[in-house]
Amino acid sequence: MSKLVWVLLPLAAYALYVAVSAWRGRAPSRVALNVQTSLLLLVYLLATAGLGVFWVANQQLPVFDWHYLFGYGTLLLVSVHLLFNLPQVLRGLRRASPPATGNVRRARTTLARALAIVAALGLAFFLGVRHGASELAVRWDGGASTAGPVDAVVRYHAFSSESRRRQFERAPGVDWGAPPPAFKRYPAAPHRPLARDGGRERSLDEALRAPAERRVPLTLAELGELLYLSAGVTARRGGLALRAAPSSGALFPSELYLIVRRVEGLPAGLYHYDAERHRLAALGAPPQDLGTPGLEDADAVVVLTAVFRRTGYKYRDRAYRYAVADAGHLLENLRLAGHRAGMAVTFAGRFDEARSAAALGVDGVEEGVLAVAALHSATGAAPRPAAPPRGWFAAPPFPAGPAVGVTGMAHLATSLRWTPDGVGDGDIALPAPVPAAAGVADTLVKRRSQRRFLDRPVPLAALSSLLADVAQPPQLSDALRLYLVVNRVAGLGPGVYRYRPGHALQRVRDGDFAAAARSAALSQDVIGEAAVVLLLSAERGALLAEGARGYRHGYLEAGMLGQRWLLGAVARGLAACPVGGFYDDEAAALIGVDGRREWVLHFAALGWPAP
Ligand SMILES: Cc1cc2nc3c(=O)[nH]c(=O)nc-3n(C[C@H](O)[C@H](O)[C@H](O)COP(=O)(O)O)c2cc1C
Repeated sequence: MSKLVWVLLPLAAYALYVAVSAWRGRAPSRVALNVQTSLLLLVYLLATAGLGVFWVANQQLPVFDWHYLFGYGTLLLVSVHLLFNLPQVLRGLRRASPPATGNVRRARTTLARALAIVAALGLAFFLGVRHGASELAVRWDGGASTAGPVDAVVRYHAFSSESRRRQFERAPGVDWGAPPPAFKRYPAAPHRPLARDGGRERSLDEALRAPAERRVPLTLAELGELLYLSAGVTARRGGLALRAAPSSGALFPSELYLIVRRVEGLPAGLYHYDAERHRLAALGAPPQDLGTPGLEDADAVVVLTAVFRRTGYKYRDRAYRYAVADAGHLLENLRLAGHRAGMAVTFAGRFDEARSAAALGVDGVEEGVLAVAALHSATGAAPRPAAPPRGWFAAPPFPAGPAVGVTGMAHLATSLRWTPDGVGDGDIALPAPVPAAAGVADTLVKRRSQRRFLDRPVPLAALSSLLADVAQPPQLSDALRLYLVVNRVAGLGPGVYRYRPGHALQRVRDGDFAAAARSAALSQDVIGEAAVVLLLSAERGALLAEGARGYRHGYLEAGMLGQRWLLGAVARGLAACPVGGFYDDEAAALIGVDGRREWVLHFAALGWPAP
């Protein structure tokens, strides 16, 4: 039976008693009604206060709404009580004050009416304001600019901010229906029970500081222990399954999924952790695309999702804050439990939420992906890749369909879309890079700025190898983009290209741009004669995302990339020259970007050196 029915039951029973008595011609007297409803009022008052004192003080928050519901019953009975007793109170007041004259009485009545009208208007205004405040009307375009989503989270934060005044204005978060299920189940999936293998205990201090990595994969029992220590049910109290990680209001919105590649005793696959029964539901083969590169060599990947409604049911506008903070507590458990088992634990800072959700088979709206963690033993075949650069991701577009709720909007605003799909449609795949054999000391000493070039085209293989050298993981800024003005490359038509992750080129403009490039570079021949010109740019929003320091970091990074271009050229018998002198507006137009939003930071020429 719903809570509401239970709360109304005593009132309904009493109403029935009065109705039946009246029907039998023995209706209770006014005095009897007054006494009986006063007693009922006392019961409701005690229930409300008791629930408030014991449940709330005990932090058993999910049953908090019993307290509210009894409170509403109390209010109802207070109204009945006033109905019976107000005339008596007024009589008492009248006796205490001197009898009013006719004029004074009229003035009082007018004043009372005026006050009633003002109060009604105030109430209407308050309700009107509240009505409009239930949603946040924020939209943005997807793409490289981060301004729209940043504005959205700033507004979400203000909207979900509490203050004493707002607490008064807000209606209490009472849900009249049943809460969403506390655990997610996959009844049709085959299940794998998990053991709890204590494993080697380490001090908290050791686990905090990532001890040396183990050289063998985790066993299934160790994985069970790791999951238990991260998110398992560690106590049952007051009808609640309390977990290793705390959760706002004990609502536990987090769910864990595992992509297992190397765990002894567990076939590779996608699994869901059923915390209630400490077992894994096998959901199928490991998904190919998790929405971010570089996780292929992890022993296991843990994806954390949140079922937002579990928290939203109670906390409404603040649900996103709580669900994400809850997730953070759980992730720290995972990190410590991973370290305890000798695993390296890394978190993917950037991933495509929609793709990750699709990989798990969740909708991404009711249940959204909040974090992706990789567990590595020192057995991994390849070195761990650096985080994918910021430039590979863009803001997701705002859905055109029905309005997204406040929580959905906050999740979408903090989400990313992975733009480069390896070699995308229409991209030109570059040939495999060939490592340069030249020694580093020799190359460093030999390098000189070359300003005259032969007419000979540069082989595509050499350009491909050079680009692979340049496109190393970023050191200080990941906001940089690489463009090429191709004048003479064997096997590649002249034009402007953008270098894409996945080692490919995207054609931006077709045609001969040697003269335009020369003109943009203050008419320097070094650019006009070059077989290829490298242009490094940065999207302003991404560059300055870390504040003004990002500006310095962008130029430092551009210098480092530029130097790799020069050294890679020398190591392959080619020659190059850095060029910082150019018209910024013409440079932006050359690569087809809006110079106010994307800044060109640097040029570099490349070609066969003329004697
Ligand atoms: C950031 C930067 C910008 C440069 N801009 C130009 C330029 O616009 N035109 C040019 O001919 N050389 C340019 N150079 C090359 C320098 O003139 C050159 O490095 C310097 O004369 C030293 O010679 P070296 O590179 O052969 O050792 C630039 C170098 C750097 C590092």
